[in-house]
Formats: sequence, C-alpha cells, structure tokens
Amino acid sequence: MIPVWEPVLDGNERKYVLDCLETNWISSLGSYITRFEESVARYCGVPYGVATSSCTTALHLALTALGVAPGDEVLIPDFTLIVSANTVIQAGARPVLVDADPRTWCIDPARLEEKIGPRTRAVMPVHMYGHPCDMPAIREIARAFDLLVIEDCAEAHGAEIGGRKAGSFGEAACFSFYGNKILTTGEGGMVLCSDAALAEKMRLLRNQAFTQPRFVHREIGFNYRITNLQAAIGLAQTEKVEEKVERKREIARWYAEAFAGSEDVELPWEAPGAKNVYWMYGVKLGDSFRRGRDGVMAAMKEKGVETRAFFCPMHRQPVFVGDDPRFPETSGEYPVSDDLWKRGLYLPSGLGLTRGQVEEVAARLAECRD
Ligand SMILES: Cc1ncc(COP(=O)(O)O)c(C=O)c1O
Repeated sequence: MIPVWEPVLDGNERKYVLDCLETNWISSLGSYITRFEESVARYCGVPYGVATSSCTTALHLALTALGVAPGDEVLIPDFTLIVSANTVIQAGARPVLVDADPRTWCIDPARLEEKIGPRTRAVMPVHMYGHPCDMPAIREIARAFDLLVIEDCAEAHGAEIGGRKAGSFGEAACFSFYGNKILTTGEGGMVLCSDAALAEKMRLLRNQAFTQPRFVHREIGFNYRITNLQAAIGLAQTEKVEEKVERKREIARWYAEAFAGSEDVELPWEAPGAKNVYWMYGVKLGDSFRRGRDGVMAAMKEKGVETRAFFCPMHRQPVFVGDDPRFPETSGEYPVSDDLWKRGLYLPSGLGLTRGQVEEVAARLAECRD
C-alpha cells in the first residue's frame, strides 16, 4: 500500500532525543524547547514562538490570550478541519462560516465582508492543504473592521504569499507538528507572534498560569506544554525545513507531469505571487468518474493506494445541527465547499515518495474513470 503520509526522520532527531535521555531533560523544561521555538520563528521571520502540545491547543491559547471571549464572533472557513470551529467554541465565542475560494480552496476574502457584524472580533484563515490564503486582502479587511487575524498554518509550513511566509501576517499564527505534517514532533504545535507581551501571556497560560509566589494563581491557565523530547525532534526537523519544502514542491511537479493531459482531474493551483507547499496533494474529480469520490477511494484502496477525502464542510457537521447558540449558523449556501467535499480527495503525499510511486498513483487513478 502506498500510504497517504509517512514521516521522514533523517536528520539529527535520534541524536537530540538521545541527548534528552542522557541528560534526563525529558519534560517541559530543557534547552530544546527554546531552540525549537527560535528556529521556527526565525524561519518565518517572526520574533516570538511559543511551543504547545498541538495546533489545537495553540489555537485555543492564541484565541484566549488575545481576549476572544463569549459574545464575540470569529470568521472561519466553512471548508476546514473541525478544529477551527471547536477552538472558537472552546474560547466561548461563536464561529461564523465563510465559503471557500474555488481555486485556492482557502477562505474567500470576497465573501468576508458580508459576514462581518457588530460582534465580529477576529478572522481565522486556514492555509488549505499548503496553499496560502490571500493574506494581503484579508489583512486589509481586518484593518478596516478592526479584526484580529489568527492564521492557522497547520498545513502550510514554508508557504509564502508576496514573498512573505505564512505565519507572519497575523496577530498570532498557529502551527501543527503532528506526525503527518511537513515538520513533525509526533504531536506538537506552536504559536508565532510579534508582540512580546502576547508571547509572555501565552507562556503563562500554557503553564497553568504559574507565577510567584508559586501555587498562588491570578488567572485560569492550561497545561498546553510541549516536552523537551518533542522539541528535540522538532529542532532536527526544522534544520531541514528548506529541503523538505523543496521536496514537497518537487513531488507536486511530478504529479502535475504525471497528470498532464489527463481530463477531469483538477489539480491544486498556485495563485500568482503564492508559494504552495502542497502539504497534501489534493485533486478534484470531474463527472467522468461516475462511481463518485467515495467509489474512487475504495477502488484506489483495492489497487494499493491510500487516499483521503477532503474535509466535510462545517455547515454539514451533524454536531452543529440545531439551534445551540454556541454553534455556527449552518443554514445558507456554501457551493464551493460543498463541491470540494463531493469531489475532492488527496493522494499519497509523504516526503519519502518516489517519482515511480507518483506515476503509479496517477496511473491507478486514471483506471478509476468509468
Ligand atoms: C487546518 C488544521 N488546523 C488544525 C489542526 C490540528 O492540529 P493538531 O492535530 O496538531 O492539533 C490540523 C490538523 O491536521 C489542521 O489540518
């Protein structure tokens, strides 16, 4: 089976982890955490990094530290992982859904303004499958309406727009280092930000809001800490980030060549001025795949190729049906995200993929046309 993803740990991971074990620094103190935070922040051109246990906790930490609270609304893409909605709800605010751009599959800036109301406090764009959102346009709207911007960069390490890295546009930007991400620590996350006071606040809340005197608390905090062991792996991964991003783009070129002239398979786009890092190589199937997306996925599995369906839109999530005021309003039309959900799937995309495997995947997909 050609898997959708496999991590590649071919740098200093082993050496740094052994160093943690040999020095007994395995928990949430230790020099690898600071070094990992600094290396990711430097790579993105942002002053501060605050590492966390996941991107989910990073998003919740950022929302909370920025003061997003009950009574607020946060604009999120309808086409995203449910984490976008959940973390807003967990912060006590209400998510408001915005349809996707049909080419980039990211939140559509042209649809933002119609969703802004008196309670709108923030926008949380997600750089989808490695393609950066149109951050200049989003920033401009955010400035006009005085909104906070929290970037979700879980899928877009190294992506750029206008020569600037994803993660350098928002008041905060959150990364995932889960096992299937371009940089991984197994489980892990990070918030980047440019404001020293915000970074300090996030460090405080990440660690139960411990201050002096110890065990006397002035705020509600969390345990969102990362371990030195995870950060050791993360530092080794970050040392090779340029190589990994280049490899992702090379795999995308191989796919584009393998699909050249192939009808009815819409390939991922790269907007002018954008650098797509193709975290997952997503495609949209046309009508000639009469067995439908799920039928194609089943057939690909039989042929030894693992695939995954695109995200199910937020307005179609059973958990949000009903009139619970904490949950997003799910009525309304989201034709772009519906189409992505109906037709989209992603193909094997791991960093260790060979050109031969890419060609094999493309050939197997072509056989699924009825
Ligand atoms: C867009 C997006 N946001 C957030 C997350 C959550 O990341 P984590 O698993 O590190 O909590 C993911 C995970 O895949 C994701 O794709």
